[in-house]
Amino acid sequence: MKRLLITGGAGFIGANFCHYWSATYPGDRLVVLDALTYAGNLASIEPLIQSQRMRFVHGDICDRDRVAALLREERIDTIVNFAAESHVDRSIEDPQSFLRTNVMGTHALLEAARNTWPHPAEGGYRFHHVSTDEVYGSLGPADPAFTESTPYAPNSPYSASKAAADHIVRAYVHTFGMPCTISNCSNNYGPYQFPEKLLPLCIVNILEGRPLPIYGDGLQIRDWLHVEDHCRAIDHILRASNVGETWNVGGGSSEPNLRIVQAICELVDEEFRQQVELKTRYPRSSLMRGQPSRSLITYVKDRPGHDRRYAVDGGKIGRLGFHPRTGLNAGLAATVRWYLEHESWWRAIVSGEYRSWYARQYAAT
Ligand code: NAD
Ligand code: TYD
Repeated sequence: MKRLLITGGAGFIGANFCHYWSATYPGDRLVVLDALTYAGNLASIEPLIQSQRMRFVHGDICDRDRVAALLREERIDTIVNFAAESHVDRSIEDPQSFLRTNVMGTHALLEAARNTWPHPAEGGYRFHHVSTDEVYGSLGPADPAFTESTPYAPNSPYSASKAAADHIVRAYVHTFGMPCTISNCSNNYGPYQFPEKLLPLCIVNILEGRPLPIYGDGLQIRDWLHVEDHCRAIDHILRASNVGETWNVGGGSSEPNLRIVQAICELVDEEFRQQVELKTRYPRSSLMRGQPSRSLITYVKDRPGHDRRYAVDGGKIGRLGFHPRTGLNAGLAATVRWYLEHESWWRAIVSGEYRSWYARQYAAT
């Protein structure tokens, strides 16, 4: 039986991981530590908390003493660190909060674990740090996909902060013998993703009849990974990886943004054709005006320093036995259906702070 601390467990990937882990290993103890920033949403994990399958602690990973006390009190043997500021556009507006949480917060967690775990080298402990393929920078059209030995070349304040965190984790393995592993994954999609990221943003905007903003020419390429596959990959790493290893995780589905947005438009249109009641539920959608969703596609000013292409070589983790199971078409269709069926989840968060951020973001375009 493991005793896990899941930081950032009220965010997109963290919440999916909580559901995955509690269903797969019902005997394990799960504790979530989350500061509930704009991106944290208790509703995503509420059923697990209500059924007492998981404890929720409202707190900041930068608070080293609090984390250390929690590690002792709960006799935590496994930390999975999802907590982060995660949105590139916000890192352009406010880099400092990214340095605070992503770099200093990861360091505080490492220190708390180093001072609490008595003999980590003897085994039984693990600090898994969740990172991104964006640390490797941007690929040209003919460049080979990122491997674990591709040099780091981060281009945004977000990816630079994640790269810095990866380096400090690595240093704690080599200097202090801390039992850490790192995964660098590609763009995730699926349930519970905050609607500032491309996919949920487009789904929600279609339902609200708002423009679908395409940065630049829309031909930037991302490798799309279904979040459930990502959770399984972390499970593989926790069970089978040696300490000190890093693992790239990709979905094997590289597509330009424009193609992804067009696919989302077609999937929503198809759902509206099949479920007539959607027209009553979403009266502002463009379909109500007789226009297909793709008529909402709007080219806007490009993101500064926008990385052109990411692609992940999943060969190493493939040898550990992990292969993504969710194909892109099936994954996108399931995701569109999830947002259609969980209107109250996204309506509750598309308000307040998010609304004013969104207004600032698009004021100039
Ligand atoms: P998210 O923004 O949806 O969630 C982040 C969570 O961390 C939120 O619940 C937030 O409240 C919490 N948090 C933020 N600052 C905190 C702090 N100081 N202390 C405690 N909690 C704090 O992010 P996500 O998309 O779920 O990403 C999770 C991790 O995966 C991040 O480390 C991110 O860099 C990485 N990642 C994400 C993607 C992706 O496509 N979403 C891809 C690669 C890597
Ligand atoms: P995003 O979901 O923000 O993830 P990341 O920047 O971490 O890759 O963006 C995915 C891609 O979609 C990225 O190339 C930027 C682009 N994008 C748009 O074209 N329009 C948008 O409104 C958003 C949010 C993103």
